[in-house]
Parts: sequence; C-alpha cells; structure tokens
Amino acid sequence: MTRPESEETPVRRAVCPGSFDPITNGHLDIIARASKLYDEVYVAVMINKSKKGLFTVEERIDLIRRVTAEYGNVRVEAFHGLLVDFCKQRDIPAIVKGLRAVSDFDYELQMAQMNNGLSGVETLFVPTNPTYSFLSSSLVKEVAAWGGDVAHLVPPCVLEALRERLARP
Ligand code: PNS
Repeated sequence: MTRPESEETPVRRAVCPGSFDPITNGHLDIIARASKLYDEVYVAVMINKSKKGLFTVEERIDLIRRVTAEYGNVRVEAFHGLLVDFCKQRDIPAIVKGLRAVSDFDYELQMAQMNNGLSGVETLFVPTNPTYSFLSSSLVKEVAAWGGDVAHLVPPCVLEALRERLARP
C-alpha cells in the first residue's frame, strides 16, 4: 500500500566533497561512516581546471566507485562551481566533512559558515579515525613518488593505480 505523500519519510541525503586525488583510507572511513548515517551519500569530486592532478577526474571517480561499491547507497559525481549549487540541485541538506586535527578547523569552519550563509546547507564534522589523522592525498603522492610504502594508507586498487602512474617516465 502506498502511503499518502505527506506521511512519507523524506530521503536523508548528504554529500562528502573533495578533490580525492586520489581517495585515501581516511576519506573512505568518513564516506563509510556517512553511509551508515544517511540514506544516500553523494561523493562530489571537484573539477579544478587550474590545478592538474595526478589522476583525471574520471580516474578519481572510477577509483571511488570501485572502493565504495560495497556500501550500496553511495553515488559518485563530478562537480564544478559552488558546492551549495550541487547540493541544491540534488536536494542535499548536509555536507559531511572529516576533521583530522585542530589545524583543519579554521578553514573548515569558514567554509561551513559561508555555505550555510549562502544556502542554509549544514556541515557535519566527523572526527577522523586517529589512525588516519596525519593522512592526506598530497602526502600519499609524495611518499609514493619517492618509493615509500603507502599500502596501509590507500585501498589496493588505488595503490595499483599509484604504482602504475608513478612508474611512467
Ligand atoms: O579535498 P579538498 O581539496 O580539501 O576539497 C575542497 C572542497 C572541494 C571541499 C572545497 O574546495 C569546495 O567545496 N569547493 C567548491 C567551491 C565552493 O563551493 N567554494 C566555496 C566554499 S565556502
């Protein structure tokens, strides 16, 4: 039996935005936790035309789709422009962000307040798993580029993609 529209529970949606060049175990931990709290989680991969990444946006999306497939309620999309517009177009009221350390807080707070002021979207901060509190995509790339072991910091398919990309002359 279909319930009247007014009684239907609204779908709870959130977005985890970022550059994800590439996705790390730290990102994945936040996405996995968000996927337990919300019905639908969007991973929004920012297109930044002024910054050439190690991976193209399509490659990043492909890696994220592969490592989040098991969750069942995670969608991965590219976006450019304002995050609040991405949220508005998809009826997403919440942004979920990981906070690694106090050093993240100042800028994250500014963005959260700006986004809320622009459109009313809320930002929820999730404390990063301490295992990953030092982790960033930039550090992973730097360590991997110099031959350091990052196998414990990224999912296996990302490790393989890093090895393949960094092996190129
Ligand atoms: O992984 P990153 O690079 O730290 O992610 C930063 C990101 C993509 C979350 C942030 O730069 C962003 O939201 N950019 C979209 C543009 C926008 O909405 N700017 C206003 C933010 S207040």
